[in-house]
Amino acid sequence: MSRKGIILAGGAGTRLHPLTLVTSKQLLPVYDKPMIYYPLSALMLAGIRDIMIITTPHDQAAFKHLLGSGAQWGVRFEYAVQPAPNGLAEAFVIGADFVRGHPSCLILGDNILYGHGLPDALHRASSRADGATVFSYAVDDPQRYGVIEFDGSDDVVSIEEKPQQPKSNWAAIGLYFYDAEVIELVKQLRPSARGELEITDLNVLYMRQRRMAVERLGRGFAWFDAGTHDSLLEAAEFVRVLQQRQGQLVCSPDEVAFHNGWIDADALKALAAQHGKTQYARRLLDNLR
Ligand code: G1P
Repeated sequence: MSRKGIILAGGAGTRLHPLTLVTSKQLLPVYDKPMIYYPLSALMLAGIRDIMIITTPHDQAAFKHLLGSGAQWGVRFEYAVQPAPNGLAEAFVIGADFVRGHPSCLILGDNILYGHGLPDALHRASSRADGATVFSYAVDDPQRYGVIEFDGSDDVVSIEEKPQQPKSNWAAIGLYFYDAEVIELVKQLRPSARGELEITDLNVLYMRQRRMAVERLGRGFAWFDAGTHDSLLEAAEFVRVLQQRQGQLVCSPDEVAFHNGWIDADALKALAAQHGKTQYARRLLDNLR
């Protein structure tokens, strides 16, 4: 059964001042491409081609205008709305018909992941047929996140949402793989104190059944959630420095589609042509040399 993807680009979790946003932050550029291109590239690197994009009702038209049907990248997009920021786990209520009977992967629309070996980690998670896989990254400020505690044999012993006294510095990043049971398990959830269906509560259900795996991304990886003005700028600078130094694009769906064999050289040329005389277009064309 092919795995389905969901990108949650709703209003939840944004710590940018609302008045600085005329549109969803996931449509803002992170250096040379819209923020949502980064999580989209991660799904595509995992080999996922059926993708639901959940947005606020207000911003749906702009996302459709940017991303279209997905045919330009050899993928299929479906669009859905999350009327209010009621939590990450609500993606599996909204997307229940879309994912029913399939394993799935949820990624937040503001997640930027980079690192050697990332495609391997994504494929490993995607090929696990049973249970859940949560991706985790060591951070300096774990109290802002879901925090995962491990025992001496690296088994998960707890996951807590934004604990004041974090039991480790391993944050659950916004990337989760689930088996088909997720749409049943999500029905057991009730809104938390902050009024949200918590992804952490869903993961705790899997953990209690001893069906939760964790992919720990080590120090060779970068993870940004672009959730504050500072982290947005830091992420853009990170992408700029890497691309300028290596001459290669970071998280371009155009490029990933080509490398996956989902589009041919002519299609890549046509995509590059849409970017005019920019460096982005030149770097896309470098893939054909
Ligand atoms: C959400 C989750 C949290 C996770 C984080 C990743 O937080 O609730 O467990 O670590 O995303 O970005 P929120 O964005 O709602 O603050």
